[in-house]
Amino acid sequence: MKTLEVDLGNRSYPIHIGTDLIDQPELFRTCEKATSLYIVTNTTVAPLYADRLTKTLEKLGKPVRRIVLPDGEVYKDWKNLQLIFDDLLKHGADRQTMLIALGGGVIGDMTGFAAASFMRGIRFIQVPTTLLAQVDSSVGGKTGINHPLGKNMIGAFHQPAAVIADLNTLKTLPARELSAGLAEVIKHGAIADAEFLNWIEANTSALLACDTNAMAHAVLRSCEIKSAVVSADEREGGIRATLNFGHTFGHAIEAGMGYGEWLHGEAVGCGMVMGAELSHRLGQISKSEFERLSKIIHAMNLPIQPPKFGAKRYMELMQVDKKTEGGQIRYVILEKMGKAQIKSVPDTQVLETLVATGAS
Ligand code: NAD
Ligand code: GLY
Repeated sequence: MKTLEVDLGNRSYPIHIGTDLIDQPELFRTCEKATSLYIVTNTTVAPLYADRLTKTLEKLGKPVRRIVLPDGEVYKDWKNLQLIFDDLLKHGADRQTMLIALGGGVIGDMTGFAAASFMRGIRFIQVPTTLLAQVDSSVGGKTGINHPLGKNMIGAFHQPAAVIADLNTLKTLPARELSAGLAEVIKHGAIADAEFLNWIEANTSALLACDTNAMAHAVLRSCEIKSAVVSADEREGGIRATLNFGHTFGHAIEAGMGYGEWLHGEAVGCGMVMGAELSHRLGQISKSEFERLSKIIHAMNLPIQPPKFGAKRYMELMQVDKKTEGGQIRYVILEKMGKAQIKSVPDTQVLETLVATGAS
């Protein structure tokens, strides 16, 4: 097992990465101060891992309850968030109750937001079971739900007390979901570590086969990159925005298609192709670097052809983005492989990018 620390002063927390971690009660010892524990999960993950996790948590001598939500991005909304509050209030949860998010990014984001707002804030743990959640969403404290007009528009920053990433849970993940997680792994290489991108390219087959050693490295390096960025800029005043490479275009694809049609990671993968094209048009990366990144994304079985919504619709959708300031959309641009910056860009180059990628 490897353990990293997200360094945030008195809100610092460990990320444990290894195999069979959900069976190890000592990793959950931060729950010792809790009065009760609620596993929040969904109808797909519960039958796979909730009994094992319950057994582990019961060894801490606390009452353990389970809240099982419907599965899907389309349920990441107010109505289903309310189900968590209903259960907590019905069963006498208090300020020392802790929530344990068992699932992918949807469960992690919703559980984190419930923890941020229940009784003005209680503690929670992330037990991510998708690759995307292990390499990205469980770390950094962004929590929230979708609004019909925009992705992740309602939420809060609320850091977990620990992240426990059990690599063995990835073995039951459908291939399409694994590829979606690989999009965020590629993103970390593209924005922060060119060497890591080389490693990803060289290990495409092992990653697609969910080889445990390859996964361990992908999760570890991604968490190192993400935790360094989050420690430097927790609330996204600057450098954290670069973690959104591919997301301005990607969120537009997700919202435009209807949540759940494209997986978040698929939209981000395709969004990175569009972001790389824009970076090239701005004279930053070369044509061959753009083509190489597109090839790496495509090799992970991710779509690289955006839906043809047309320029007007893309611009409308991209306007509803948390990076937009004073009506100005801001984009994450690759300066070179392994280095990114955030900036406003003339509409002409964005429109050219939409045409060049077949989005318009
Ligand atoms: P997800 O949570 O919908 O999980 C994908 C699917 O895999 C679901 O059907 C789920 O039930 C299933 N699943 C989960 N674990 C499994 C397992 N071990 N075996 C079999 N099936 C399993 O999707 P995701 O890709 O994990 O997360 C996407 C969400 O994360 C989006 O809502 C996105 O906005 C959010 N996100 C948040 C952050 C952040 O910083 N908070 C970062 C990136 C993405
Ligand atoms: N996924 C982007 C962030 O956490 O900032």
